[in-house]
Amino acid sequence: MKKTNYLFKLILAGMLIAGIFAACEGPMGPEGPQGPKGDTGDPGEPGGSFVNWEGFKEGIICADCHNPDYDTTYFVWARKYQWDLSKHAFGGDFDRNQSSCAQCHTTEGYIQFIQGRPVTNNVNASPPGCFSCHSPHSTADFSIRDVGPVTITSAVEGVPDFVFDYGKGNLCASCHKTRTLNPKPDPTKTAPTDTITITTSRWYPHYGVQAQMLAGTGGFEFTDYNYTGNSIHTVAAAIKSDGCAICHMADPNAGGGIGGGHTMNIEYLNTSGNPVYLYTGCTVAGCHPAGFNNIDYIGASSGLTGGLGSQTATKAYLDTLQTLLLDRGWITASGSVNASSNNPLKIAPVSRSGALFNYFFVEHDLSHGSHNTRYAIELLKSSIDELRKP
Ligand code: HEC
Ligand code: HEC
Ligand code: HEC
Ligand code: HEC
Ligand code: HEC
Repeated sequence: MKKTNYLFKLILAGMLIAGIFAACEGPMGPEGPQGPKGDTGDPGEPGGSFVNWEGFKEGIICADCHNPDYDTTYFVWARKYQWDLSKHAFGGDFDRNQSSCAQCHTTEGYIQFIQGRPVTNNVNASPPGCFSCHSPHSTADFSIRDVGPVTITSAVEGVPDFVFDYGKGNLCASCHKTRTLNPKPDPTKTAPTDTITITTSRWYPHYGVQAQMLAGTGGFEFTDYNYTGNSIHTVAAAIKSDGCAICHMADPNAGGGIGGGHTMNIEYLNTSGNPVYLYTGCTVAGCHPAGFNNIDYIGASSGLTGGLGSQTATKAYLDTLQTLLLDRGWITASGSVNASSNNPLKIAPVSRSGALFNYFFVEHDLSHGSHNTRYAIELLKSSIDELRKP
């Protein structure tokens, strides 16, 4: 508000001065000497030394959040301890703080990105924390940063970029999105003479494929396979509006261990130290019935899974595809692409490299088919079919 007032006054003053000079016409004099540099202003004010600081909202009450006794509004401390149990906090990859990585791996880089400024090296960086997803000082609350639909660059030749729009999930997708890939696999290049040359052990579009997987896009679709679509998660109304949060950030049952919430973990440890799953998000109105408690659910894709649970089937197809890729020497036992600039991997026809692409796409999703069983399994099945061709 303050900023607008100031600007308004400035413009008004400018108009008045312009008006005065316009009134008394005459030849223009020589340009005067340059004036001294202005005051840098208070830190946090426009033009101040902390130009990037988002500032405090006027009238903010610090103790609304910084109260160490009993906070039943925001549960800030609880959220901090939950966050501590999330891979956002402990993952350790915030050392990926150079300009090409800091946008997703550090709070500082993400804020630069979200403000539309160039992302720089951030030597003194912190992992994705409170101020990545919220701006509590400038908003005086915990509304999430307003991230509109996220454009995800396609890593497959001929496939257009995808606009992800799942409400609150857009925030997640602004980091959990893929990066570019070079060279891209091309589904239309099916002639035996068409060859793709891969020169990196990381020939996959990075790790954040979850947004695409949920939306049923981004995988490599072979032209001779009939893909039948997606699981209901792709279009379910609750997921379209709350996105990733509806499943990952639901509350667990009291006394049952700390999962969901700001841990964002579906799998977590109960109070006996045994792994359990968070089903709270599964049973919101219009989704699975109350009492639903099977992470290896057999649902509408049972025809595709051969009656097996979605995760069991996905893991089995992933294993089969992995074996086929190992047999061809396209991947190493440690799971990276068997290629480097000195030791390029050549695949013909080009379209066959889609099997390698899909392996990493499904593997990096990490949900073992839970996000979108139908899409994951058909990508795997079509890739296996391709590698079994003579
Ligand atoms: C809407 C909630 C909210 C309000 C209101 C708020 N803060 Fe914060 N503030 C946070 C959160 C969340 C953090 C990061 C987590 C933490 O360190 O507690 C934080 C961090 C800080 C830090 C850094 C702490 C550290 O250890 O690095 C300072 C300093 C701070 N706030 C000062 C203030 C002051 C001064 C006010 C009032 C003018 C204020 N805050 C009002 C939510 C709030
Ligand atoms: C600022 C970028 C950013 C945002 C926004 C973000 N994430 Fe993450 N997320 C990451 C990074 C980076 C990692 C990996 C951290 C590491 O390895 O150090 C990660 C890891 C995770 C993990 C753990 C993955 C694993 O391998 O165990 C989950 C789950 C997760 N995020 C869910 C979410 C959800 C849900 C949202 C939205 C509410 C979200 N993330 C928003 C960057 C982000
Ligand atoms: C567009 C956002 C984005 C950018 C840019 C990005 N990353 Fe990541 N990266 C992620 C996310 C999200 C994850 C975590 C995915 C998960 O665990 O589900 C991740 C995970 C990783 C991991 C952990 C992999 C693992 O197996 O645990 C490494 C290492 C990594 N990134 C390195 C880098 C490097 C190096 C760069 C820069 C060259 C970079 N990232 C740029 C989003 C990004
Ligand atoms: C990776 C993104 C992410 C990070 C990091 C994050 N939050 Fe959140 N937070 C969210 C999302 C998304 C929601 C909304 C969840 C929902 O609607 O189910 C939320 C909700 C909240 C709420 C509830 C808001 C309300 O009005 O009820 C509070 C409080 C909160 N976060 C505090 C924090 C604090 C404190 C931290 C740091 C310790 C933090 N958050 C870190 C994404 C994040
Ligand atoms: C329909 C509920 C649902 C939605 C929506 C959802 N997830 Fe998941 N997610 C799951 C389940 C279930 C798993 C598998 C958990 C397991 O088996 O441990 C999972 C696994 C993951 C993992 C791997 C976590 C780990 O510990 O290995 C990440 C990362 C992740 N999801 C991120 C996201 C992101 C980002 C979004 C939004 C683009 C999203 N999820 C949307 C249910 C969901």
